[in-house]
Amino acid sequence: MRSLIDILELSTSELDELLSTANDIIANPKKYAHKCDGKKLATLFFEPSTRTRLSFEAAMMELGGNVLGFSEAASSSAAKGESIADTAKTVSCYADIIAMRHPKEGAPLVASMNASVPVINAGDGGHNHPTQTLADLLTIYREKGRLNNLTIGLCGDLKFGRTVHSLINAMSRYEGIKFVLISPDELKIPSYVKNDVLEKKGIPYSQTTSLEESMSQLDILYMTRVQRERFFNEEDYLRLKDSYILDLPKLKNAKADLCIMHPLPRVNEISVAVDNDPRACYFKQVLNGKYMRMALILKLLEEAAK
Ligand code: CP
Repeated sequence: MRSLIDILELSTSELDELLSTANDIIANPKKYAHKCDGKKLATLFFEPSTRTRLSFEAAMMELGGNVLGFSEAASSSAAKGESIADTAKTVSCYADIIAMRHPKEGAPLVASMNASVPVINAGDGGHNHPTQTLADLLTIYREKGRLNNLTIGLCGDLKFGRTVHSLINAMSRYEGIKFVLISPDELKIPSYVKNDVLEKKGIPYSQTTSLEESMSQLDILYMTRVQRERFFNEEDYLRLKDSYILDLPKLKNAKADLCIMHPLPRVNEISVAVDNDPRACYFKQVLNGKYMRMALILKLLEEAAK
């Protein structure tokens, strides 16, 4: 049974296929309106979410299917001590496909090993968030017309930011990609990403603490939130939380066709004044997430039916 736990489980030709399906859904939504009639998606969210859970649910509804699930661990039998494995076996009796978010890294993988239906990782701790990466890829593709020959600035919490880790993994497979890693020293990219992906594949990258000095060279600027929930002490969070605030003056030296992205939710890291700048793409990114999740649900259900 094929699941999606890590973005690297999808080949670049499969990513192309998903991008093509998502673009076709955008152009011809009626063609897809009954593709999942009679099918059910379970959303098992053990951690808060707005975009990922609701976009999965909207995606299934727009494909003609139904949704069930829970949005917090406290309202599931996990609160009584039920294991991930038993939860996955149970939900497989009710649903055709599962989307799971969990604070523990590896929990969706455990679910996929015990479920009899496809499991999609909707975010596991600071580890991976493959469907956010699908949303990011569609956004880059639609805004820039390509997924190669881009200088990508990643700014903020690069240590705990699972969306950043998944995006680096995905974009490292395309030609001509260069990363500018912008973070405080305490929130630098983990060595398992730096050594095992960037160094190993010979991908050009630089590390800096200055957003302003990096700005002029970027094609993509991917801002991230400093995540309170990943810190062990409040003092460190408070010291680092406003390390980077993107505002209009900081965009003075940016390219005219810069694409500003953010997985959201934002706290302070992008001023609301930037929302009206034509380079702000983060709400388009939200919508693109729904289309890519539609494409992914279709692909996994088709493969499960074979
Ligand atoms: N980008 C993202 O995962 O948002 P949510 O936490 O709201 O799902």
